[in-house]
Amino acid sequence: MADKVVVLSGSGLSAESGLPTFRDAAGLWRQYSWVELASPQGWAKQPELVLAFYNERRAKAWGAQPNAAHLAIASLEQKFDVVVITQNVDSLHERGGSKHVLHVHGELCFARGTGRSRKRYRIDGAPIELGQKCEEGTQLRPDIVWFGEETQHMEEAAEHVANADKVLVVGTSLSVYPAASLVEYARTDAEKVLNSLEMESLPAGFEFLPGRATAVVPEVARRWSGPGN
Ligand code: APR
Repeated sequence: MADKVVVLSGSGLSAESGLPTFRDAAGLWRQYSWVELASPQGWAKQPELVLAFYNERRAKAWGAQPNAAHLAIASLEQKFDVVVITQNVDSLHERGGSKHVLHVHGELCFARGTGRSRKRYRIDGAPIELGQKCEEGTQLRPDIVWFGEETQHMEEAAEHVANADKVLVVGTSLSVYPAASLVEYARTDAEKVLNSLEMESLPAGFEFLPGRATAVVPEVARRWSGPGN
């Protein structure tokens, strides 16, 4: 059995593909209010504003390309059993070639209704307009986990981290829970590395590898994959 590698990623991984992070100097939540744009209350108050915000993000993400870090993560599948757990709502992991990706905060390329059905509709980069309905006749909304809503796949994700021989955390400030708590499931004897531009508090047992993901992650992949890679 190939060793298991789990990658836990955040918006810093897609920064070099031209997509904004949330809390860095030019981050989205520095420019916009997450209460207005990423919460059930904001949706109830101004759905058209929320739709416009995500339509713009969706079009940009759909036009973006995976970078060297996404590709390096996918290349690990040649040697390892790889599971990617991402907070990112773009499709750059999949477009970089990763086969097993869990999106814990939803995906921009899907819409869903606002009724009881959780059926998702694939929309790729297309906009959602006010008045567009699901099969149940409810308004379509972005399939994104907003603040105050339940994070997805958490149990499965925690199990993957707990079974990993190697854990790579990349491009996340680990400031949003429960996703950030996933690092705590990593085994003591697992090899654990974290790449970011900066890190306030490094989770226990992790080696900090500062720098841009496109420089650091291919290095980690070479290190783990060994000579000839
Ligand atoms: N390479 C590596 N790391 C980077 C790069 C880069 N080129 N650019 C930025 N970073 C790092 C920053 O140093 C920071 O630690 O990425 C991190 C981005 O942190 P946040 O902006 O807080 O984004 P993230 O951790 O993904 O946010 C988590 O918050 O708003 C919610 O749902 C949203 O999924 C998101 C969650």
